[in-house]
Amino acid sequence: MTIEAPGTTAYLDSLVNVATGELDRRIFSDEEIFELEMQHIFGRAWLFLCHETQIPKKGDFFEAPMGKDNVLVVRQRDRSIKALLNTCTHRGNAVCRAEEGNVRNFMCTYHGWTFGLDGELVGVPGMSDFYRDELDRTKHPLRKVAQLDNYKGFIFATMDPQAPPLLEFLGRTGRIAIDLLAERGDIEARPGVQKFTLNCNWKFTADNAFDYYHPQITHISAQAVGMIPSADVNDTGGAKTDEGKALGVQRLPTDLDTLVALGEYGHAISGPSLDSMLRTLPPEMHELVTWRQNPGPLAALGPVGSRFAGHPHLFPTAWFTMDAQISLRVPRSAGVTEVWWFSFKDRNESPEEQKAQLGRQIHSFGPAGFLEQEDGENWSQSTAQTRGGASRDIPQLLKMGLGRGKIIHEDGVARIEAPVNEHAQLWTYLSWLAWVKGTSWDELRSATTPGDYI
Ligand code: FES
Ligand SMILES: [Fe+2]
Repeated sequence: MTIEAPGTTAYLDSLVNVATGELDRRIFSDEEIFELEMQHIFGRAWLFLCHETQIPKKGDFFEAPMGKDNVLVVRQRDRSIKALLNTCTHRGNAVCRAEEGNVRNFMCTYHGWTFGLDGELVGVPGMSDFYRDELDRTKHPLRKVAQLDNYKGFIFATMDPQAPPLLEFLGRTGRIAIDLLAERGDIEARPGVQKFTLNCNWKFTADNAFDYYHPQITHISAQAVGMIPSADVNDTGGAKTDEGKALGVQRLPTDLDTLVALGEYGHAISGPSLDSMLRTLPPEMHELVTWRQNPGPLAALGPVGSRFAGHPHLFPTAWFTMDAQISLRVPRSAGVTEVWWFSFKDRNESPEEQKAQLGRQIHSFGPAGFLEQEDGENWSQSTAQTRGGASRDIPQLLKMGLGRGKIIHEDGVARIEAPVNEHAQLWTYLSWLAWVKGTSWDELRSATTPGDYI
């Protein structure tokens, strides 16, 4: 057996085997691989920063992560938006310690250098006495992100001046992912972002957004209290008690009509189709998904896009839920991920509807979320078991429906229609490999353009 040197293309290629549906567990715990991710993925991709309604007034700011960089998204006096690195150009201290707020200037707490909302250096204590007026203030503004853009109020940035434009990066699948939130009404971010930390690798959180195989077991208590629906079918795949009695676990009613979209650069949507979602949701909750068939949303989403009711995920780390939330999975190290929850409301809904939605948002996901606490436990355990000297040699499996994902190209979307499957997860890792190798944008795009099968 040849062991390739870590970091080389051959080594990275050996970690993801799309043909067999097997991954090397090292990708979840190796800090060298994490550094490559920081450089080649988070240093280049367009990353979601915040929604424009989070910074409505002049001087409003929101601090967002871009890999290990912290960026201040700031509403300017002319109402435009800039994104500045939160690091003083004198000796590096953060110029802002708050996560969000409103300011007239950013004054550094170390020596008092002061920067305008646009990042210009406007004040240097001791300029004449200590610096003898020899410092050129114009040469030391706060650094800006390389590119900043906005899709329907969702603000994104990239640190790579060579990155393709945001619209091209998102592609049709990425735009549908955002439209499934943006087109639901006159949306506004609710105040505050819920944040908490999990001891897990960020890729488990990304992969899980597409995993409709786990809820019947992981979320069995949520089924028991009626929070998520279950079918009258017991299925443990043949496991029996000593007396020959079937061990029953109620299956989720999501075994048919899964709809998967695979997008360039790694974006994907996976989960139930609109029709199968309507069959499982109680009638009083149908409005959660039927709004997309109104004329405005339908025009934006198109005939294919409007049929998706599963989970959209923008590569690398933004998950858009069905109930107007975005979860940003912020990698802090190979084994630590911060999970951020942005929640939205429709300004035109009644106060009662808004309140009911807030209840669902808080109690499903986030630090008080029933579903996510159950998921988080699994992700932490899965991460921990990738570190064992013997355990890490066991491959991670993504074999469900392997080779059976026939890709249909229609209305600019590459989709698969099949029972519950792992095609979107496989797509995520296939794309991850192309990114982490640091290939050029052209190579990256062609490596992540869906073909005819997966
Ligand atoms: S580090 Fe900011 S003023 Fe010195
Ligand atoms: Fe889950």
